[in-house]
Amino acid sequence: MTAPFDLVIRHGTVVTATDTVRADIGIRDGKIAAIAETLTDGVETIDATDRLVLPGGLEAHCHIAQESANGTMTADGYATGSVSAAFGGNSCFIPFAAQHHGMGIRETLDLYDSRATGQSVIDWSYHLIVSDPTPDALEELPLAFERGVTSFKVFTTYPLLKVEDGQFLDILALAKEHGALTMVHAENHAMIGWMIERLMQNGLTAPRYHALSHPELAEEEAVHRAICLAKLVDAPLLIVHVSTRAGAALVEAARRSGVAIYGETCPQYLFLTRDDLNREGLEGAKYMCSPPVRDTATQEALWDHIRRGTFSVVSSDHAPYRYDESGKLAAGPDATFKQIANGMPGIALRLPLLFSEGVRKGRLSLQDFVALSSTNAAKLYGLHPRKGTIAVGTDADIAIWNPDETRIVTAADQHDAMDYTPYEGMSLTGWPVAVMTRGQIVMQDGTIVCPPDHGKFQPRDRFDRGTVPGYRAPEMDPRQNFGVELL
Ligand code: URP
Ligand code: ZN
Ligand code: ZN
Repeated sequence: MTAPFDLVIRHGTVVTATDTVRADIGIRDGKIAAIAETLTDGVETIDATDRLVLPGGLEAHCHIAQESANGTMTADGYATGSVSAAFGGNSCFIPFAAQHHGMGIRETLDLYDSRATGQSVIDWSYHLIVSDPTPDALEELPLAFERGVTSFKVFTTYPLLKVEDGQFLDILALAKEHGALTMVHAENHAMIGWMIERLMQNGLTAPRYHALSHPELAEEEAVHRAICLAKLVDAPLLIVHVSTRAGAALVEAARRSGVAIYGETCPQYLFLTRDDLNREGLEGAKYMCSPPVRDTATQEALWDHIRRGTFSVVSSDHAPYRYDESGKLAAGPDATFKQIANGMPGIALRLPLLFSEGVRKGRLSLQDFVALSSTNAAKLYGLHPRKGTIAVGTDADIAIWNPDETRIVTAADQHDAMDYTPYEGMSLTGWPVAVMTRGQIVMQDGTIVCPPDHGKFQPRDRFDRGTVPGYRAPEMDPRQNFGVELL
């Protein structure tokens, strides 16, 4: 008689965003086929005694095989990016497909397909960055939905990426109509430009001044504006990489009022400060990202917001540029902060950092950890219940964790194409020891064991607002605007 399961995970503690149970998991044809107190017959068996069995991480904000705002290519393509993600406990990721000026939507998606297909060990999708919403491009946007790309990202800053408020409204309205979720990088472009000009005029060009050039108020203003724009057309909006107390408070207030506003923060805002930019020579460039890292008081405020539910997701914003002429130092050893690519690596450390400093230190429950690292992203980005949870019938996307193992972080252990990690030397407790995507073990005990092209593109469902009530700005409500239907 053949075994009923291809793989059985035995004796583990299974954790989802709602429950913790002692159970065995039987996997067949890439899906979870059974969850029971005891399962025996598997072609293969993993003994998960003293291990946590979690939904695989879903990394929802990372830059892979993508040119930066100033044209520098990320060090990681889909091969090294997906391997590094797997070492960090992720079974699926959603990098960006970036439309640059003059590019069509089909052209953009085709380009990223050519960069990703056959390269990834874990499943992937894309968020589409819209930077040039011409009438032609807007007309082409529904093509993205047909291809299962159901989220967009827009920028309110970076000269080559930013959209104007009217364009932002066009995108929000279209996204609402078709069931997409818009994400926004929210910082006030003029404030940043004004600060940069003054810093440059005064010869203040070292990486540390990057932090000053992106004031907290720039985030506060743009988050407020973005929320108002989304409310006008009642479109769902997720504010990415919130870095300030004021930005988080705006997200929290909007959520409390019942509108479909969501927030994301990232480990760099919880673990690094602007003092990290204040290093010899250009060393501070390694810690430059936008928005910039802030201070310890802000870190604690952001942890509080995580605890209170302000943030639905914690993502890495992995934006890997090496500390050499291919990346951070592309403009040479005397580069000004304005010439240095923004972003830092971290796709392999998002979950270990959150586990060690969140769960182990009592700031987060295991349920919070699973929700923030996987389930909420799957729900927001149209992959739930296929991914993001452990239940019969779902993809067997699973990470097995040793909650007691302590390791010291090194750049070499990131398995990415980078030459540094901002977290070098940190001692973290709790590490993923195996990760599988659709039932195939991808990483086990520090080795990649699947074919290099195991990952598959995942078409995503449309955004489902679920139980969140709708909202009508009075000016858009026919009962209050002389009866005109504007959407
Ligand atoms: O500095 C960052 N975060 N670089 C990546 C691009 C972005 O803004 O997300
Ligand atoms: Zn951004
Ligand atoms: Zn980013």
